[in-house]
Amino acid sequence: METPHDHSLDDDQPGPGPAAAAGSVGVFPTGVVAVAARVDGRVTGLAASSFTSVSLEPPLVSFSVATTSKTWPDLRRATRLGLTVLADHHGGVCRQLAGAPERRFEGLALTVSEDGAVTLDEGLARFDCSIYREVEAGDHVIVLLRLHAAEHADTSGPLVFHRSGFSRLAEPA
Ligand SMILES: Cc1cc2nc3c(=O)[nH]c(=O)nc-3n(C[C@H](O)[C@H](O)[C@H](O)COP(=O)(O)O)c2cc1C
Repeated sequence: METPHDHSLDDDQPGPGPAAAAGSVGVFPTGVVAVAARVDGRVTGLAASSFTSVSLEPPLVSFSVATTSKTWPDLRRATRLGLTVLADHHGGVCRQLAGAPERRFEGLALTVSEDGAVTLDEGLARFDCSIYREVEAGDHVIVLLRLHAAEHADTSGPLVFHRSGFSRLAEPA
């Protein structure tokens, strides 16, 4: 395949403002993951709806983190990151994971791997990852993660983030 080009020099082109872009992009439903690790003896992390599958060989996934994130500079120092796909009953947990940093993991059942990856025990899928590449992208950084282990459960549906609110999938007919 031809080498991908970098078109970022076109950055000053006109476009929708941030609010209009967010409103329209928010029509697209996503799941939500918790990205978490133990760093310097403390569990740290955040909720992210920008998770997506990228490659199967090698197994890569991605999420985007705001350049203003106060958590990412610590989180990115971890040897391994844990990713948990949140379940449909995790609306409150998701708000907690995006809220006051010192309370994000309060009362949650967690598993911490030897390398410091932190996952939620009640998650629908859990991944053990390391950072593969970070790509600057405007006011976010696209973080490509390599999967080292993955497991999933079919115990409930996923938490769905849509138009700034939480939804769940309808039962199949
Ligand atoms: C549903 C939901 C999805 C979110 N998705 C992202 C995301 O994809 N990337 C991101 O940087 N922050 C996302 N956030 C915000 C973070 O969880 C967190 O609140 C933010 O990074 C500020 O905290 P920090 O400074 O500790 O990083 C999301 C929040 C919510 C509630």
